Amino acid sequence: MIGVRNGARRRARLVALGAEVPERVVTNADMAKVVDTTDEWIYSRTGIKERRFVADDEAASDLAARAAEKILTEAGMDPLELDTLIIPTASPDHLFPATATLVADRIGAHRAAAFDILAGCTGFIYGLAQGTALIESGLASNVLVLGAEALTRITDQTDRRTCVLFGDAAAGALLVGAPEDEVTGFLGFELGADGSGGLDLVVPAGGSRMPAQSGPYEPAQSCIQMNGREVFKFATRVMVDSCTKLLEALEMHVDEIDLLVPHQANQRIIDHAISRLGIPPEKVFNNLERYGNTSSASIPLAMLEAREAGLLAPGDVTLLVGFGAGLTWGSTIMRYEPT
Ligand code: ACO
Repeated sequence: MIGVRNGARRRARLVALGAEVPERVVTNADMAKVVDTTDEWIYSRTGIKERRFVADDEAASDLAARAAEKILTEAGMDPLELDTLIIPTASPDHLFPATATLVADRIGAHRAAAFDILAGCTGFIYGLAQGTALIESGLASNVLVLGAEALTRITDQTDRRTCVLFGDAAAGALLVGAPEDEVTGFLGFELGADGSGGLDLVVPAGGSRMPAQSGPYEPAQSCIQMNGREVFKFATRVMVDSCTKLLEALEMHVDEIDLLVPHQANQRIIDHAISRLGIPPEKVFNNLERYGNTSSASIPLAMLEAREAGLLAPGDVTLLVGFGAGLTWGSTIMRYEPT
């Protein structure tokens, strides 16, 4: 990527969406064969019925490369036109190199800068903010933000408190620069982080705090460990706070929102948040019943399916909100104008 500030006033606009999910469907009944759980417990506590698992030889970059190709095809864009590929992920192929560099090579985006963002399930919102900033500063014109997760590879499949929650997917959006106007594109962002709760959602081993070579560790130490009750309380609070602050900053009323696409972690968290925000359920799109929590892929995967269901139409004012490991949170309001 080569970018210079040229004084032009531009808006970043989301013009294409795409996703890739693994073929293997794992139902709650399948989970109940492996751990001591039931469909009734999982569905009533989370709203999840089934999720997708990558194959044993697949990683996040495999899903991401296929999703990226679909998004570029929808946009009619050559991979060499991409300036930047941003991959939010909590389950990268490796600690380094960044998964984004591997995917850029795979899809032929040889002129793109490529990097990952580690912000848990908020990663997609952080990535949209980064992509918007690059475009609106004049440093980039075409930015692909692509959440990519193979979470089941870093989940302890013998721990019923976590293994029923997570699924695998890659999904994202292409942002392009458009002439400045007052109504299209991303109207604003509210982002935050509170590391005091960081260890409530953590993969303990494998980094510099607990290096792999200083093991051996219990296999669970290399997997997601979560204080579910604390994350639940955090999530319900920040979803409401973040959306409220953003609406106030934009001097908008909640009635002006046509569609809310929240991070798909738990139906009870979403229900609590929308009732506090005063957003009716018919304005909220959810698909966690079929995919579980796909972390940084969940919001774009839900946006794509909302569009397929006719709920995300040109001109719609859309509120996106996420929360996750870090602990982090973020929201944005955008007007969807694909052309
Ligand atoms: N099946 C049956 N019983 C279970 C299961 C299960 N799958 N999981 C836990 N239980 C049991 C527990 O062992 C516990 O039993 P005990 O009282 O005998 O010890 C009991 O159910 C209650 O456990 P809680 O953890 O209190 O259950 P809770 O009602 O809080 O629900 C849940 C757990 C669903 C995880 C909830 O806390 C939650 O959704 N938290 C938020 C999680 C979340 O959103 N995480 C994603 C963050 S995003 C990211 O960045 C990855």
